[in-house]
Amino acid sequence: MKTPRTIVVGITGGIAAYKAVNVVRAFVLNGDSVHVVATTAALRFVGKPTLEAISRNPVHTDLYEGVAEVRHVSIGQGADLIVVAPATANTIAKLAAGLADDLLGNTILASTAPLVIAPAMHTEMWNNPATVANVAVLRSRGITVVGPGIGRLTGTDSGAGRMEEPETIVAVALAVLDRQPSAGEAAASAVQDLAGRHVLISAGGTREPLDPVRFLGNRSSGKQGVALAQAALARGATVTLVAANLEVAVPTSVTTVLVSSALEMHEAMTLAAETAEVIIMAAAVADYRPKTVQLGKIKKEDVGDTLTLELVKNPDILAALSAARRPGQQIIGFAAETETDADRLLVLGRDKIIRKGCDYLVVNRVGHASGETVGFGTERNAVTVLDRHGVIVNEVSGSKMSVANCILDVIG
Ligand code: C5P
Repeated sequence: MKTPRTIVVGITGGIAAYKAVNVVRAFVLNGDSVHVVATTAALRFVGKPTLEAISRNPVHTDLYEGVAEVRHVSIGQGADLIVVAPATANTIAKLAAGLADDLLGNTILASTAPLVIAPAMHTEMWNNPATVANVAVLRSRGITVVGPGIGRLTGTDSGAGRMEEPETIVAVALAVLDRQPSAGEAAASAVQDLAGRHVLISAGGTREPLDPVRFLGNRSSGKQGVALAQAALARGATVTLVAANLEVAVPTSVTTVLVSSALEMHEAMTLAAETAEVIIMAAAVADYRPKTVQLGKIKKEDVGDTLTLELVKNPDILAALSAARRPGQQIIGFAAETETDADRLLVLGRDKIIRKGCDYLVVNRVGHASGETVGFGTERNAVTVLDRHGVIVNEVSGSKMSVANCILDVIG
């Protein structure tokens, strides 16, 4: 059984505070111990009883309560991680200046735990030079800023400033927590090791149309690609996700390009690759597509007992991107294989990295094994990362988030 970690969730006064309830709930369901520190303004948007019931702990707001137990420093000192969601423009300004005029400010200043903030505000406030400068200061201190996304805001307007979805905030925060160096390891600067880098990730499975209603597809859910996007966000990267038919929600603070077929993915990846420093081809791309796409639905009355499909080869996106790679650009491919023998799986991987010409190849086994589906669509994964010489540089089995971090660890 894992030891529960202590997570302090700071909630500040924005309308997105109502969504912070789901952030608190997700940490609790993950088995962590959650303490909410809400500002007075936050409690105008969401009730204390709700937060206490969901967090299963008292909610603190007042700097002058619990003085005998020195609460203004004890909460921060006991935290393994602090997450502020939503973080208003005002709170961000106070954090940048190091102000401690309320319990949350004191808690943060008194803590050495990693800090993750999820900004939420109107677009004009997010773009205001004061906020831009404050966010830059926070990032430079190694604070993880998740979001904001672009989308519908409180009124009828939409734009940048919408709080990232609770699911993503929690995934990013847990990724930050899991990557904390243990005592004796180098300082926490490693946490933001992808700051300022553009990471391009393909995820999901392509669908190759046969007619207006049918396609040839595969079982990829996109979970591993989305976990890579979340892990890269947590490490400070700017992320573009080329998403093919995902079964999971996409973080709103990544730039998402929706595609369906291999040809569409090829076009989107080629365009985004122009500015990407790191490319990860996690998508399951169909090797072949129907030669012709029928304009009308294929009818069995017209076809008879046997339908023969003629397929043509799709472009190999990974091989093409690798061949056109700019100096310094790093490219990671995947090899999802049904081979059950570990040694033969490695041989397949070593052959593949030569054919594809990428820098690293993530080899994993997929398919059905004794009634269990492995790799595709599952919550866990087990991979071996090979370098271009076929040497094993990393190996991990665990959640798709821990696999994602193991993959990102190899990027120099
Ligand atoms: O050849 P195979 O499909 O096993 O290679 C898997 C790797 O190649 C994955 O990274 C996948 O995203 C990529 N791929 C591609 N274009 C294709 C087929 C696979 O980029 N047409």
